[in-house]
Amino acid sequence: MNLTSRLYFNFRVTAMLTVILILLSCNGKKRYESEKKLTSVTLKIDSILNKMTLIEKVGQLNMLRGKPTTPTNFKDAKYNLEEEIKKGRVGSFLNVHPMEDKIKYQKIAVEESPNGIPLLFGIDIIHGFRTNFPVPLGEAASWNLELIEKSAKIASTEGTAVGFMWNMAPMVDISFDARWERVMEGAGEDPYLGSRIAEARIKGFQGDLSSTETMLACAKHFAGYGQVMAGRDYNQTTISKRFLHDYILPPFQASIDVDVASLMSAFTDFDGVPGNMNSYLLKDILRERWDFEGIVISDFNSLEEIVNWGTVDSEEKAAFKAFEAGTEVDMMGLVYIENLEKLIQDGKIKESSLNTAVKRVLKMKMDMGLFDGPYRYFKIKDPEKIWLQPQFLEHSRNIARKSMVLLKNDSQLLPISTNKTKTIAVIGPVDEDKRNFMATWSAWGKEENVVGVVDGLKNALKEETIEILYEPGLNKDLSANPELLNRAIKAAKKADVVVCTLTEGWRNSGENTSLSDLNMPEPQVDLIRKIHEVNQSTICVLFNGRPMIFPWISENIPAILEAWMPGTKGGDALADILLGKYNPSGKLPITFPRNTGQIPISYLQKKTGRPYKTGKNWTRYLDAPNEPAYAFGYGLSYTTFEYSDIRLSTENISENDTLTASINIKNTGQLAGVETVQLYIGDAVATVTRPIKELKGFQQVSLEPGETKSIDFKITKEHLKYWNTEMKYEADPGTFIIHIGTNSDDFKKTIFKLQ
Ligand code: GLC
Repeated sequence: MNLTSRLYFNFRVTAMLTVILILLSCNGKKRYESEKKLTSVTLKIDSILNKMTLIEKVGQLNMLRGKPTTPTNFKDAKYNLEEEIKKGRVGSFLNVHPMEDKIKYQKIAVEESPNGIPLLFGIDIIHGFRTNFPVPLGEAASWNLELIEKSAKIASTEGTAVGFMWNMAPMVDISFDARWERVMEGAGEDPYLGSRIAEARIKGFQGDLSSTETMLACAKHFAGYGQVMAGRDYNQTTISKRFLHDYILPPFQASIDVDVASLMSAFTDFDGVPGNMNSYLLKDILRERWDFEGIVISDFNSLEEIVNWGTVDSEEKAAFKAFEAGTEVDMMGLVYIENLEKLIQDGKIKESSLNTAVKRVLKMKMDMGLFDGPYRYFKIKDPEKIWLQPQFLEHSRNIARKSMVLLKNDSQLLPISTNKTKTIAVIGPVDEDKRNFMATWSAWGKEENVVGVVDGLKNALKEETIEILYEPGLNKDLSANPELLNRAIKAAKKADVVVCTLTEGWRNSGENTSLSDLNMPEPQVDLIRKIHEVNQSTICVLFNGRPMIFPWISENIPAILEAWMPGTKGGDALADILLGKYNPSGKLPITFPRNTGQIPISYLQKKTGRPYKTGKNWTRYLDAPNEPAYAFGYGLSYTTFEYSDIRLSTENISENDTLTASINIKNTGQLAGVETVQLYIGDAVATVTRPIKELKGFQQVSLEPGETKSIDFKITKEHLKYWNTEMKYEADPGTFIIHIGTNSDDFKKTIFKLQ
């Protein structure tokens, strides 16, 4: 080969290698602006790793918690936390406060442990840290991704102000079963909406991690926890692989697509194997198929609990199975720190596998800048100045009012007219306990900052001469109290309008508070029934973390608003809606069942061989309709919207084409309003049974009275793919039905063909 050819050959080889390196670095964390930076980080990590002893490596996979505030029977009680840190046997902590303890522990880690590896400090910030926002399911009802992201960003700003860096959120579990109370923590029943909201929350929490106002996020619980049998927390699941791919995995994949730093393995089993030792989930899908480079952390103490599942008979075997399957950090199980070293010394686990896991933890700490600045998250001298800032509170009010869902408004009882109203009676127990606004998982939120229902109305009406009466009608624990009931009835008689506030009660919401019956408790239904008897201008406001069942209220009360557990500024947000300062725009992210017997229930209903209301026989109950009380995507406004002229740019597309589906929406009422236009697509014939329709897009549109706008949705083959009989994610040629409308039950339809 002559010189010119050789030079040309070398040039081509170099060019090809450069392209490969760039592609590889693009495939890596998006946070590295160059392959060079990624390489230097990798070299640093390797050099640290080479100095570490075996137990120090295992220590990086050991997460302990801050000093328990109550006596505990967990194993951490027998360890001296500071000694553990000094020996390099701890890599991260959960719930360490006050800040002084974080600084003390970090100082011991950096200055006294063998290799000075800094600690990560984790916490659960589920819906705000010091400023609480609506529970995540409520926030999801806003369908406003920008505001949802902003909530997460504010939560990170407030949580990092006291040194927390790793947030065990967002919860992205999909569930069709509100008996499982943790629906409160997620984004409802739909994988598409759940995926978009997961993306928003992770972007909000993590930003680009360069700022000390950003936190590592953790998508949880991987995978299928929301499908517990009988809706009972921690129970087994019975979902198929196809169900897992169709409904459960999309929000996790979306989380990884926006670079989530970690995933949390689930308490529950999938296909007979506990989540934290499930190699199909943790290896085949997470690492091989999705190329996830972040960390997998177990749920609290769940590695020890593998023994309870009966899939192992010792903690040593639990350590072996969980580690080999791909769970890397042991949250408070003490199973890794007590067993991994011996498993490696006995050759049962390769040290190279341990090194892979440890490098991920070290890289996460490097990404957070902790090696260069182990105290960089501890610099805020006065976090009170960071918390509850006016703009944070204003956001809390804004997202809360956009989350509330108007379920019924007969005879336009709402909004309350201030010039025709002299007396408003607020009746109900919600204000008696401000945690009913903050819910559980409220981090460092405080009741003293919560604006209640009466507070909110007084704030809004301070310029008016409207009298506000208040009677709880029930005890603070939501039990009946005849004397309080009588006082409430007297107040209702005096009022022009009654705002009756009912709640499932914050103690009945959040982890391990499953219900076998979702009916609103009888004392509360009895209260509103008695109030309505003396005053038909009764508005029911529900403060729930999940769908509840209230047939008598739906039937007899003229106005019903789902306010969720609306956060620190919930009372102001509610007043904005009750008094018409904000026209409600929330849409349900989860189906509200008519009765508990309908559960599990979802709009993602398949056709069946005997479709409802068609043919000779059809799938039905003898004692109830199939329809829910309120459908997925449902929510009224004080105005009305009319959909018309659904139309397509073409009736046929081939696989590389884009089709535009358009529709006109007119505000046919007297008030300006925001409508969330929803796009659902159904596949007429597929190789497997498919839902009648699936949400594939949504857009929010503001319309003045009388105004019409045309909304376009771009549809490509990507929108038509599904897991076929070979478990390949593909689209088949054929007919597809487009539904565009105001909810999953109310839409205009048209069809097109994929060639
Ligand atoms: C809980 C929850 C999990 C949470 C963890 C730490 O049991 O299942 O969502 O992140 O413990 O608080």
